[in-house]
Amino acid sequence: MFEGFARVWTPLVPLLSLAKGPVGVQLAGERLAVFLGAGDAPGVLVDRCPHRGVRLSLGRVTPEGCLECPFHGWSFGTDGTNRRVPLNPKARLDTLGATSLPAR
Ligand code: FES
Repeated sequence: MFEGFARVWTPLVPLLSLAKGPVGVQLAGERLAVFLGAGDAPGVLVDRCPHRGVRLSLGRVTPEGCLECPFHGWSFGTDGTNRRVPLNPKARLDTLGATSLPAR
């Protein structure tokens, strides 16, 4: 994935377009979910929930700045870390993260 983009910053979307919520974009054949996380830091995740593959860009940004999947509500930080699995409070969050890409 993204071999031709190694060590190259690629513009995706204007930051202002993220004010209303996550945006889905496609780059090099890969769907990406772009959103503003905590402190308005941009986050880019592969647009595929690690749970059931739902497009994360259809979700919402929580007040904590996580991207929440619209299906079962798993929440991810800008680094892809899983912060919440609503139906399983004992879930091992460290094993359930999304794939993130560096963003600035
Ligand atoms: S498909 Fe995303 S939380 Fe289940």
